[in-house]
Amino acid sequence: MNILIVYGTRHGTTEKCAGNLRDLLETDVDIIKLEKNGSYDLKPYDMVIIGSPVYAGRLLKEVRSFLTSYREALLQKSLGLYLCCITPLHEAEKYLQSLFPPEMTARAQVQGIFGGVFDFQKMSFFEKLAIRYIKKVKGNMSTLSEEHIRLFSRAVLETRDTTLP
Ligand SMILES: Cc1cc2nc3c(=O)[nH]c(=O)nc-3n(C[C@H](O)[C@H](O)[C@H](O)COP(=O)(O)O)c2cc1C
Repeated sequence: MNILIVYGTRHGTTEKCAGNLRDLLETDVDIIKLEKNGSYDLKPYDMVIIGSPVYAGRLLKEVRSFLTSYREALLQKSLGLYLCCITPLHEAEKYLQSLFPPEMTARAQVQGIFGGVFDFQKMSFFEKLAIRYIKKVKGNMSTLSEEHIRLFSRAVLETRDTTLP
């Protein structure tokens, strides 16, 4: 099974998770960072894994554009969806249901929340303000879960094993 991981990122967390996932899958995996107005060939892939961070309760714009532009092609593939966000897991599950188009969530055999990172060195002035004064977070923090990435990779491999002829 040919797997493609596509992701959007502003500060690198979702990218790091995509890399970890690829290492754990130990199979042929291509990995692409989504860009504004990017063009992608999904034909060679059986499975597409889509990763996005959550900003202000939304998926990153590049990811939203990709989901819209490649909707038809994506609905022909096996799908995996993952999110990087700081909201605790039990609350963040709702993001998977509400932020991705429902037909894609319904189709996705594998879904995961990997946690998130607040890194003040990487934030813009306005992001720092928002996080300090709205979220009331003063210092760097990480809720990234290696375990969640591992579980996700295991579920992808199980999907592969059950869909092979
Ligand atoms: C300005 C700002 C807004 C954010 N808004 C949310 C949010 O609404 N919900 C959430 O769970 N996490 C939120 N986060 C946390 C990000 O999802 C988290 O930092 C993630 O790791 C970012 O991924 P990236 O490094 O790939 O861009 C926000 C972070 C920033 C800096």
